[in-house]
Amino acid sequence: MTGTPLAVEGLRKGFADRGATVQAVDDVSFDVREGEVYTLLGPSGCGKTSTLRSVAGLERPDAGRIVIDGTVVSDTGSFVPPERRDIGMVFQSYGIWPHMTVFDNAAFPLKVGKAKVPKKEIRERVESALAAIHLSGYEGRMATQLSGGQQQRLALARALVRRPKLLLLDEPLSNLDAKLRQAMRAELASLQQELGVTTLFVTHDQDEALSMSSRIAVMQNGKIVQEGTPREVYQRPATRFVADFVGTTNFLDGTRGTGTLVETAAGTMDVPAVADTAAKAGDPVVLAVRPEAVLLHAAEPGAVPNTVKGEVDRVMFVGESVDCHVRVGDGTWVTRQDPRLDVAPGDAVWLELPGDRLSVLT
Ligand SMILES: Nc1ncnc2c1ncn2[C@@H]1O[C@H](COP(=O)(O)OP(=O)(O)OP(=O)(O)O)[C@@H](O)[C@H]1O
Ligand SMILES: [Mg+2]
Repeated sequence: MTGTPLAVEGLRKGFADRGATVQAVDDVSFDVREGEVYTLLGPSGCGKTSTLRSVAGLERPDAGRIVIDGTVVSDTGSFVPPERRDIGMVFQSYGIWPHMTVFDNAAFPLKVGKAKVPKKEIRERVESALAAIHLSGYEGRMATQLSGGQQQRLALARALVRRPKLLLLDEPLSNLDAKLRQAMRAELASLQQELGVTTLFVTHDQDEALSMSSRIAVMQNGKIVQEGTPREVYQRPATRFVADFVGTTNFLDGTRGTGTLVETAAGTMDVPAVADTAAKAGDPVVLAVRPEAVLLHAAEPGAVPNTVKGEVDRVMFVGESVDCHVRVGDGTWVTRQDPRLDVAPGDAVWLELPGDRLSVLT
């Protein structure tokens, strides 16, 4: 029987910690579709690795059901061991064997498995896996003679030789330096697409999650708090936690007024998105706006709605943009502007908050 590559339902996993229980995974459910990169994103300790390890069979869940390609691999009373699950996995620390050559590292899963793979087929599969990750010609090298990025790709080849239904990646780029990490991000994404292998990806890095995922599940304290495409999660965060964790966000407390108006300490704002919420007139709401969505005017604009006056607090030039912090009342707003903007601390400025760029958290 075939089905969704991965279905997780009501997954729970707790760990005993000095007499108490840490609920690492607390009722987590999600489906991963054919060919997509589904990412678990969240801060350290939120339960990403525990979820991934449960899918791999390296942890025994306390409750819930895990189905890989139509086969129940974990349920009350049933448990398929990791080596019999149709998966490939890359850990944070690659787990490359230093005493083995590149070839032997990549061939390992085919040699240890129950199903004896003929020598000729091992050679063919390893060669095609190494070709896919651009390491052809390196077969005889010792693994320690590879660069960090090459080791990372080798770990990937090893995860792929068995042609798994599902690829599990736990922070596979976190050991690389910033530059290589960025290059590998693009490479990994195009490789995944070429191979079309369904992937469950774990990261705490929001840029990585946004740039590489088909869909993202944001986790907090063992739960999925929002699921959506990168755009949905970034542009329409469901909670303050998501808005804060996925990128930088300015928050503004307010009260819904008549129509789509919201009263705030910085003035009355017209916020179309408030119409989509359950908030009624008089209910408290929180407005959220991204730094790059705020338009900064160095001179007082005419009759532009949603404009507040402030004073430049700090100007940080970061090359491709300039991050200008602006004091408005008791708060400070973070804005991201064109690097040609020429303002200095103490200058009076006007911040325009375009209505369609304001999210509403209730
Ligand atoms: N073997 C274990 N024994 C006890 N507690 C554990 C064990 N493994 C994980 N935990 C706890 O479960 C919680 C979730 O851990 P998990 O490793 O899943 O987090 P994570 O989201 O992967 O974090 P990180 O980004 O730091 O890797 C944490 O509080 C962690 O301390
Ligand atoms: Mg982890």
